[in-house]
Amino acid sequence: MKSAPVIAIDGPAGSGKSTVARKLAQRLSLRYLDSGAMYRAATWKVLRDGVDLNDEAALAAVVENMRVELLESAAGVVVLADGIDISKAIREPELTARVKYLARMPAVRKGVGAWQRKFGENGGIVAEGRDMTTVIFQDADVKFYLDASVETRARRRFDELQGCGQDVDLDELQREISERDRSDCERETAPLRRAHDAVYVDTTGLTIEDVVNILIAAVEARTG
Ligand code: CDP
Repeated sequence: MKSAPVIAIDGPAGSGKSTVARKLAQRLSLRYLDSGAMYRAATWKVLRDGVDLNDEAALAAVVENMRVELLESAAGVVVLADGIDISKAIREPELTARVKYLARMPAVRKGVGAWQRKFGENGGIVAEGRDMTTVIFQDADVKFYLDASVETRARRRFDELQGCGQDVDLDELQREISERDRSDCERETAPLRRAHDAVYVDTTGLTIEDVVNILIAAVEARTG
């Protein structure tokens, strides 16, 4: 395998891509880029500063003037915004529901995209999100699109949030995920879609380990 490949993974919420991407990165000794965490970090700062969610220039200025770091730890990715640990805060449902206001703005995507390209400038990464294969790392060495039924994805998110002690309702989560699918797929700027050269993996009924093994086999087949 090339020493510094770029592996890009896209897919909808709950398709398992964060966990899979992180494990794949560990197995291949690559760095893991959680691109959604960057959108979440920007949203955190915008909400903290009380910026108008419809004011594109103001949102882009927040992105322009903040520093986001993703650090690996045994417990997962630690996200720092201007040095403050916001790893937990960015997973709150109230914040999750507001990321779409930033994600649909071209000026915001330009700024966050610059952070992502910087993270990957020397390769050696597994990048995961909504537009990693189609926009940010269009020349990635290997591309994947992970999918699963909406019921499976809601159940996974339910188990994950319950595991963190959050009080969640399965039907409510399914509605929230369907709504996010809609806004991610229908927005004009960088909508979620399957790249023509991405390997499609339906993860319904598969364990994380199964999926990681499928991806490793595909990476080995493509990079030699
Ligand atoms: O883990 P989950 O799929 O729930 O979400 P995430 O990957 O943390 O992303 C949160 C939101 O950020 C998504 O619903 C997208 O609206 C947005 N996002 C995006 O627009 N582009 C990316 N590359 C990653 C995330």
